[in-house]
Amino acid sequence: TAGCATAVAHPNIALIKYWGKRDEHLVLPRVDSLSMTLDVFPTTTRVHLAPEAGHDTVVLDGRQAEGEALRRVVAFLDLVRERAGVADRAVVHSENTVPTGAGLASSASGFAALAVAAAAAYGLDLDATALSRLARRGSGSASRSIFGGFAVWHAGLDAGSAAAADLSSHAEPVPAADLDPALVVAVVDAGPKAVSSRVAMRRTVDTSPLYEPWAVSSKDDLVEMRAALLAGDIEAVGEIAERNALGMHATMLAARPAVRYLSPATLTVLDSVLRLRRDGVPAYATMDAGPNVKVLCRRADADRVAEAVRDAAPGGSVLVAAPGPGARLLRG
Ligand code: DP6
Repeated sequence: TAGCATAVAHPNIALIKYWGKRDEHLVLPRVDSLSMTLDVFPTTTRVHLAPEAGHDTVVLDGRQAEGEALRRVVAFLDLVRERAGVADRAVVHSENTVPTGAGLASSASGFAALAVAAAAAYGLDLDATALSRLARRGSGSASRSIFGGFAVWHAGLDAGSAAAADLSSHAEPVPAADLDPALVVAVVDAGPKAVSSRVAMRRTVDTSPLYEPWAVSSKDDLVEMRAALLAGDIEAVGEIAERNALGMHATMLAARPAVRYLSPATLTVLDSVLRLRRDGVPAYATMDAGPNVKVLCRRADADRVAEAVRDAAPGGSVLVAAPGPGARLLRG
């Protein structure tokens, strides 16, 4: 085993959302999803084996992890240890530049970087597909951050064995024409979210009468999204992404009790996006498990879009992201 490895990964934003699991242990989703990996907010994670230690140590942004955060990382390392046939405990250091828990998918970059670093430290030689499957076990959306640019995460085979389902559920790059897209990220509230996406997803699947119809329509959205990406049609890409996201939030609003991540500031930003479109600027919004808004637009329009969004959400912070790279090992 290498004993020590450092990896970096970037967050991704889903244009076709992952919402709902059919197997919580294996993290198998109910729907296919499609995302763009960003060039901002990287997570850098170092794993080194500590053969003498009796337990794992996990340090996130300089603070020792405990509770649920620690439990998730240890469970993930257990999986890697089992595959590698190496029992050693590890020390994990992770520096995350994403505002944690604010719906900017810090778990995606976090578990993608951890998968790459832990696999290398424990001596597993995995290709990108296998790393994507592994990252999925930490957090579903992390499967997509293994790849740069646009990636689709397959829900995988539904019939047959658990092993077949596990093998078939991974991300892969999606062919796209030159869109030159930007994603304007409006952080309207960087505080931690009220309900974790894990709990919210479960509640939505279990209680929302709108969940099934959304999951069905999401299949059509994916087919249309692939065509729009191939055609380089940013208007179509944006329209499909926006309706898919609003539909996902509708499923949550109909859950019992309701899950609502959208805040007044979110809606104000959505209004500004509508005004941009009325003024002829193609700009489309998507929201995840938090109040922040990500606006897809052409890179050439990004400054104008950022300005409009900034005016709409004073006190928030706005930054412009572009497609970013997949997860990778750092040398040394
Ligand atoms: C709304 O990947 O964080 O961002 O698999 O339970 O860790 P777990 O969930 P997570 O969920 C992300 C949900 C989303 C949509 C998306 O990224 O596709």
